[in-house]
Amino acid sequence: MFRFGVDYYPEHWPEERWPEDARLMSEAGINVVRLAEFAWSFLEPQPGRFDFDWLDRAITVLHKQGIQVILGTPTASAPPWVMGMFPDSYKVNEHGHRLTYGNRCEFCPTHAGYRERGRMVTRAMADHYADHPAVIGWQIDNELNGRCYCPTCQTSFQNWLRGRYNTLDKLNAAWGTAFWSHVYTEWSQVPVPVQTGGVPNPGLDLDFRRFMSDTFACFQQEQVDLLRQICRKHFITHNFMGFGFDQINYYDLAKPLDFVSWDNYPRTGWHLAKEADPTYLALGHDATRGFKGKPFWVMEEQSGSGGWQTVGMTPRPGEMRLWTYQAIAHGADAIVYFRWRTARFGTEQYWHGVLYHHGQPGRRYDELKTIGSELKRAGEQFLGSENRNQVAMILSYDARWAFQGQANHADFSYSALFRSYYKALHARNIGIDVVSPDADLSRYRLVLVPALYILPEEVADRLRSFVQNGGLLIATARSGVKDEANAVVNRYLPGLLADVCGVEVDEYDVQPAEETIPLELSLPGREAQSAGARLWFDVLRTTTSQPIGIYQAEYFSGRPAVTLNQFGEGKAVYVGTLGDDALHDTVVDWALQSIDLHAPVNAPSGVEVAERWQGDQRLLFLLNHNNETVEVPLTQSYMDLLSGTGVDETVKMPPYGVSVLHNEE
Ligand code: GAL
Repeated sequence: MFRFGVDYYPEHWPEERWPEDARLMSEAGINVVRLAEFAWSFLEPQPGRFDFDWLDRAITVLHKQGIQVILGTPTASAPPWVMGMFPDSYKVNEHGHRLTYGNRCEFCPTHAGYRERGRMVTRAMADHYADHPAVIGWQIDNELNGRCYCPTCQTSFQNWLRGRYNTLDKLNAAWGTAFWSHVYTEWSQVPVPVQTGGVPNPGLDLDFRRFMSDTFACFQQEQVDLLRQICRKHFITHNFMGFGFDQINYYDLAKPLDFVSWDNYPRTGWHLAKEADPTYLALGHDATRGFKGKPFWVMEEQSGSGGWQTVGMTPRPGEMRLWTYQAIAHGADAIVYFRWRTARFGTEQYWHGVLYHHGQPGRRYDELKTIGSELKRAGEQFLGSENRNQVAMILSYDARWAFQGQANHADFSYSALFRSYYKALHARNIGIDVVSPDADLSRYRLVLVPALYILPEEVADRLRSFVQNGGLLIATARSGVKDEANAVVNRYLPGLLADVCGVEVDEYDVQPAEETIPLELSLPGREAQSAGARLWFDVLRTTTSQPIGIYQAEYFSGRPAVTLNQFGEGKAVYVGTLGDDALHDTVVDWALQSIDLHAPVNAPSGVEVAERWQGDQRLLFLLNHNNETVEVPLTQSYMDLLSGTGVDETVKMPPYGVSVLHNEE
C-alpha cells in the first residue's frame, strides 16, 4: 500500500472532534498518521507516571477508519519538569551561553540524565505499543541537529579524541599544535571551540564537528536499540532535513534506520520567495535518497503556508499535488503532510496545515482528496521503484564542516557551489545521485566533486579508478586541499587528485565577489566561447592535461583556469575557480554532450522530467513548475497513470500540472 498521511496532534484538540478528523482524513484517502512527536507532557505528565489512555483512544478512533500510526518518540521537546530536574541539560551555544526553557530541541545530547529520561519514555511507549495492531513504525525524535559546548560535552569530546588518536602525541601531530604553542600534555586541557576562545585550530574545529555529529548519532542509536529490541515488527526512521541541515553527517545517521524520511518545505515565511525553487526541492529529495541509497518517505510535506512569526506564501492551487509527485519522482515511497489542522496556539500558529484553524475542509483539503484518490489507484506502482542515474555528485560532510570553520573566501559557500553544479544538471533533466565520498562509483559515467576539500586517500583512489576505467570526472578548485586532520597537504594542489587531473596549482588568488575575470573556453568539439571566473582563481600548470579555459585578465592573464586530462580510459576536468553559475552550466553542458547523455524528453523550460523504474517498466514523470500552461512534445505514445488516458505526440500541462507516463503493457 502506498502510504499517504498527515501529521496529527490530537492532544491539541477536544476529544469530541477526533472522530470528525478521522472521518475527513479517511474520505481524503489518508491511511497513515504520525502522532505523539511532541507529546511528552501528555505521555509522562509526572516523572515515571505514564499515561497512554488518551493516545490509545485517539489511535482507536483513527484505526476505526482504517488509518495506521507512526509514533514519534517525544524527546525533541521535554516538559518543564524534565529540564527542571537537570538544569545543566540545556545546551550551551557557540557563544558560551546556556539556553533557557521556551523553545524545543534545547537539550544537550551528551547529558546522561536527559538521555536516561529519553530512554525511559521511549521504553514505556515501546512496551505499550509493541503489539498494537494500528502501529507500524517509529520516528525517532525530530530533525536532530545542533551543537553543544557545555562542560559535559567537553569531557565527552576529550574521551572521543582519546578513542580517535589514542595518544596525545598523535593528536598534537595531526592538529599541528606546534603552532602557537598549543601542545596538549593532558587530555583535560583540550577545549571546545567556543567563540570566546577565538579562531580555533582547524584540526580541533573539524574534530569537534565530527564528535558532535557522532554524539547525535549515538543519541539516536540508544532509542533505535530499545525499539529494535521491543518492537520487532515495526520500522524505525527519523525525519532528516534533506540538503538543508548541515551539522550531522546524515550518511552516518541513516545507517541504523530502516529508511530515511525528510521534511520538505518549499516556501516559508522566513524566506519569502515568489516561486518555490524546484531545483532546491529536487536536491533535497536526491540527497535524502542518497543517505541510504534507497527510496525514502517525506514525513512532513508542506500543505499550507509556513511561518512562525511571519506568514509564508500559501501553496498555489496544484502545488501540493506537484510537490507530491516531484517527491515520488525522486524516490519517495510515502508522503505525509504537515499538518492536518493549523494550531490555534503555540509558536506555530502560522504554520498552516491542510485545514485552517477553524477545521472546516477547504481548497487544500480538496486537493489532498484528489491526490489521495489518484494514489489509491496508482500508488502501488511507484512503491520500491528505482531511480537509475548515470551521474553522481559527491557530498562530503567533512568538507562542509571544514568550510564552516574556514570559508576560504568570505562569499564562498560550499552548499551554493554544490547547488550551482546540481542546477546545471537538473535544468537539463538529467537524473542525479547525491552520494557520500565512500560510495561505489563504478555504476556512474559522470561524477562531480565540487570542492572536495578534505580528501582521504581511499576516496582519491576510488576517483582515480573511476577515471581510469572510463569515467568522466569534474573536480573544482579547493579539492584535495586537506588531509583528514584538516591540515593542508604537503604537495601541489589539487593534492591527491593532481595526477588524475594532470594539473598542478602554481598559484592561487581571490578577488571580491563583484569582480569577474573573463575566461576564454575552448571546449573540445565546440567553438571558442567566453565565460567568467569569480571568487577563487587557481593559476594552473598543466602536466599531462590540456588547457580548455584561459584567464583573460589580471597578472595571470593567459594562464590556464580549466583543464582536461585523459587518464586511463577516462577523462578528468579540473575547474580552477569557484563561483560562476554560467561557467558551471557551460562545463556541465559540454560534459553531458561528450558522454552523449540526454534528458528522457525534450521539455520546455520549467518542466521537470524524471524517471523511476519498476523492473523493466519505466515511469516517466513530467512536472510543470510553471504557473502557465505548457505543451510537452513526445516521440511515442504513452498511458498517463494518473488520468488513466492515453497520450501521444504532446501532453498539454496546466499550471503546476503533473503527468506520470508509462508504456502500455
Ligand atoms: C518542521 C518540524 C515540525 C514543525 C515544522 C514547522 O521542521 O519538524 O515539527 O515544527 O517544521 O515549523
